[in-house]
Amino acid sequence: MKKAYKNPDAVTYYIKEREYFGWRPRGERAVKFAEIKPGDYVLDLCCGPGMVSKVIREFVGDKGKVIGIDISPKFIKYANQLCNYPNVSFFKGNVENFDTYTHAEKFDAIVLLASWYWIKNKDQLLKKIKLNLKPNGRLLISLSADNLKNPQTHQFFLHYRNNLKRVISETFPDIDPSYLDCLTTANEEYFDEIISQVCHEGYRLCSKNETKRQLTLADKLFTYENPARTEWVGNFSSKVRYQIIKDALTKTGSELKNLQTIERHTYYLEFCTCTDS
Ligand SMILES: C[S@@+](CC[C@H](N)C(=O)[O-])C[C@H]1O[C@@H](n2cnc3c(N)ncnc32)[C@H](O)[C@@H]1O
Repeated sequence: MKKAYKNPDAVTYYIKEREYFGWRPRGERAVKFAEIKPGDYVLDLCCGPGMVSKVIREFVGDKGKVIGIDISPKFIKYANQLCNYPNVSFFKGNVENFDTYTHAEKFDAIVLLASWYWIKNKDQLLKKIKLNLKPNGRLLISLSADNLKNPQTHQFFLHYRNNLKRVISETFPDIDPSYLDCLTTANEEYFDEIISQVCHEGYRLCSKNETKRQLTLADKLFTYENPARTEWVGNFSSKVRYQIIKDALTKTGSELKNLQTIERHTYYLEFCTCTDS
């Protein structure tokens, strides 16, 4: 299993980030896009600090049920304090074995938000989810990235990647930073591949909703205080990584003087199982 969220600093920064950007609308979007109704039973996989679970609980009410599972004990402790209701339970564990905690419970909705990347055996998890959904149950997966369909953000992306390469080779002359060109780019093709992978396991895409938000360069730098965000830069200590990002963002900002914000988008992919119609 990838280990970044076992780092207590990553947990602290994640909570700080959710508070900074506001977490309630995030939960409301989960409710809306997973079509959650009062009384529903909902499983929140990789629930993190339980903020989304809390909004879901408020929506499903006393007759519903929410179970959240996360690998990080620190997140589970926080979630238990934030969302303390008799019909909500949090478990510390690997979501790839979620049925160990949920036993034979069947769910109206299972959500996996901002966590696809962390799942090691995705096909096996998708099979398990399918077995644990009620007949008209939904699986909601959310995936976020800088929106490369937005011309300004695409231009930012190209400059920023070049500047990362430049900063890395200036700081570490022995490192060839061309590996940055080979990293997965979260473009439309990448999202389509994920949809195909899920559908291959017997799901049907029921809805695909896209939400957008604008980030300043300062907002973006703030998100990189979280040591779990390793995707872009390579294998450096979190302090060095943060400095590389800061220098590359500063260079990019001075090159693109008219750049106000970068667009970040999130896809909410709602899947149903193929057996229902
Ligand atoms: C980016 S956070 C998302 C948290 C939450 N879903 C949200 O949207 O706010 C990713 C979460 O996945 C959890 N995680 C990663 N791999 C996991 C695994 N195999 N089992 C359980 N939790 C895992 C991390 O601890 C972290 O809380």
